[in-house]
Amino acid sequence: MGPAYKSGAGEAWIERHCADPSSATPPHAGGSLLRSYQWQDRFLVGHPEIDADHRRFFDHFRDMASCVDDPGAGAALDMLFTDCVADLIRHHATEEHIVARHGFAGLAEHKSRHRTLAYQAKAALAMGRDGEWMTALMLLSTLVLEHVAMEDANFRTCFARVAAAG
Ligand SMILES: [Fe+2]
Ligand SMILES: [Fe+2]
Repeated sequence: MGPAYKSGAGEAWIERHCADPSSATPPHAGGSLLRSYQWQDRFLVGHPEIDADHRRFFDHFRDMASCVDDPGAGAALDMLFTDCVADLIRHHATEEHIVARHGFAGLAEHKSRHRTLAYQAKAALAMGRDGEWMTALMLLSTLVLEHVAMEDANFRTCFARVAAAG
């Protein structure tokens, strides 16, 4: 019996932005999700530490996707999800520190987005603990990857300007 979750806007977004079309992941229940969490270089923002952190989120999501269909994996998912949310909050602090050093003009607004995202990530974890791990994973991964693609992408100009200035 598959999960109650049906493909929705979040899954469509991830498929559109992250899926590797050359991947031949078998179409088992979690296959589409696993295929979707493929790092793409167009997510690079131009700072090695921030980019390494962003890549790691794909590992977190793939780890969770690999067991999200297993009804006996609740404890493992709880641990993986909790680690991911803690890593996200750590990443926000690191990223804010780095972009502040580089004179990023939108820092105050970006910090506010991070606070909202951290709140939403904790809400997703609570949803998972209520037994909705698939929905929780889709929600968390979509929110995080949208943030990387739409908000963190704004750092590129800042890092490029600092690099050009030597
Ligand atoms: Fe980030
Ligand atoms: Fe960010």
